[in-house]
Amino acid sequence: MTKQPRTAETPVPESFQGIRIAPSILSADFGKLGSQVGEVMEAGAKVIHFDVMDGQFVPPITIGPLVLAGIADQVHDAGGVVDVHLMIENPDRQFEDFAKAGADSIIFHEEATPHAHRCCHAIRELGCLAGVAINPGTPVEAVSELKEMADEILVMTVNPGWGGQPFIETSPDKVKRMRSLVGDDVLIEVDGGIGTGTAGTMAEAGATLMVAGSAIFGTEDPAQAYKDIAAAAEAGA
Ligand code: DX5
Ligand code: ZN
Repeated sequence: MTKQPRTAETPVPESFQGIRIAPSILSADFGKLGSQVGEVMEAGAKVIHFDVMDGQFVPPITIGPLVLAGIADQVHDAGGVVDVHLMIENPDRQFEDFAKAGADSIIFHEEATPHAHRCCHAIRELGCLAGVAINPGTPVEAVSELKEMADEILVMTVNPGWGGQPFIETSPDKVKRMRSLVGDDVLIEVDGGIGTGTAGTMAEAGATLMVAGSAIFGTEDPAQAYKDIAAAAEAGA
C-alpha cells in the first residue's frame, strides 16, 4: 500500500504517542511468530519492534521485508504499528522495500551513512516516520542537525547486534541530555536491556518508546511480562 509522504507537520500516529513498550520480535519464537505477536498485542502492545541485521554493520543476520510482510497486516488490523530498526550498511538502498512491506517507521543508524539528512527525507517521502539511531559510543550531538528531519531518535542502551545484553548504566543521563537537545516534539526510543528494573528510570529520563525483547519473549508468559514492564514505565513517567 502506497502511503502519503510525511512532512514535519504530519501528525505522528496515535500508536506511537505516549509511553509505549515495543516488544522486539528478535527474541520471539519464529516458529509461532503470528501467535506471539497476537499475544502481546492482546495484552496492550501497539508498537511491534522489528530488528534487521545484515552481518556487516553488526555481525548477526536476521530478518528482512519478507518476514515484515508476513506480520504487517496482522499488526495493522489489530490497530498497531511496526517500528523497523535497520542495523545495516547502506540503509537507503532498503527503505523502499521495507516501506512497501508495511513499515510504519524506519530507523537507520547514524553511524551507517554519511547522508543522515537525506535518509530522513527519503523515509518521509515513503510515508513512514523517519528514525535515527545512535550507538552507545556516539554522542547525542551527532543528531543535533536532524531534529527537524527526524520523527524518532533511538538511543541504544546496549551495543546493537544481540538481545539479552545488560543495560548500560550511563544511559539515563544520555537520554536526559538527548531530551534537552531535541526538545519535546521528537519521540525518544531506547533499546536494549529494558525490563521492569529499567523502564521506569528511562521514562523518567525522557524516553517514551521502550523496546523490550528478552524481558518479554524470553519469559514463560510474554503477555504478563509486557503488562509488568508497561506498568513500571508508567510509574516512572
Ligand atoms: C539489539 C536490538 C534490540 C533487541 C533488544 O541490537 O536492536 O531491539 O531486541 O533486546 P533486549 O530487550 O533483550 O535487550
Ligand atoms: Zn532494535
